[in-house]
Amino acid sequence: MLQKHELVYLTEDASHDAAIELINEEAFGPGRFTRAAQRIREQGPHDRSISYICADDGETIGSVRMTPVLAGSVKGHMLGPLAVRPSHKSKGIGRELVRIAIEAARRKGSEAVILVGDPPYYMQLGFEKVAYGALEFPGPVDPGRVLVVPLVDDVHPRLKGVIGWRKG
Ligand SMILES: CC(C)(COP(=O)(O)OP(=O)(O)OC[C@H]1O[C@@H](n2cnc3c(N)ncnc32)[C@H](O)[C@@H]1OP(=O)(O)O)[C@@H](O)C(=O)NCCC(=O)NCCS
Repeated sequence: MLQKHELVYLTEDASHDAAIELINEEAFGPGRFTRAAQRIREQGPHDRSISYICADDGETIGSVRMTPVLAGSVKGHMLGPLAVRPSHKSKGIGRELVRIAIEAARRKGSEAVILVGDPPYYMQLGFEKVAYGALEFPGPVDPGRVLVVPLVDDVHPRLKGVIGWRKG
């Protein structure tokens, strides 16, 4: 029998919170609270208006969140967590969530999308490496995993100094 899946991408709202928490727990486990990017997310709320979920027949199976940050002098957004349920991996859902979130940030006037993540995955989605050690996170971070999609000219030289939450 042919199984029909209807995938939809929706702007996040509070009704998705419980499902997103479960997806992130499944993807990252308890260690997720100790990550440097999480320290920034604890400084203030993410921006729901540019955070997205993917639902399959009404069930939330993927999520990407965006948090407003000041990185050096760049007014950007930090992408993450990004997670897709194991049952739905390798169907392009992660890539699509990243694409939608970046385009939404661009429309909102963001100067850059920054994250801490695996270069082999994100560099094929348009991310570039930030100069080694240029950004100071509020916790230990592997400098080789700090990546950026610049959305305006001249972002790289301005990504220098502290990164932290900003009022969006
Ligand atoms: C990473 C993740 C979001 C990708 O979601 P997805 O919907 O499967 O992604 P896509 O379908 O767009 O891309 C899948 C491809 O990326 C590759 N890929 C996934 N994670 C990768 C990684 N860390 N490094 C390199 N390639 C990776 C897969 O092998 C797959 O390749 P294939 O299509 O040739 O099989 C998902 O696997 C996940 O939730 N992982 C656990 C949480 C996590 O690591 N989040 C990212 C933080 S760094």
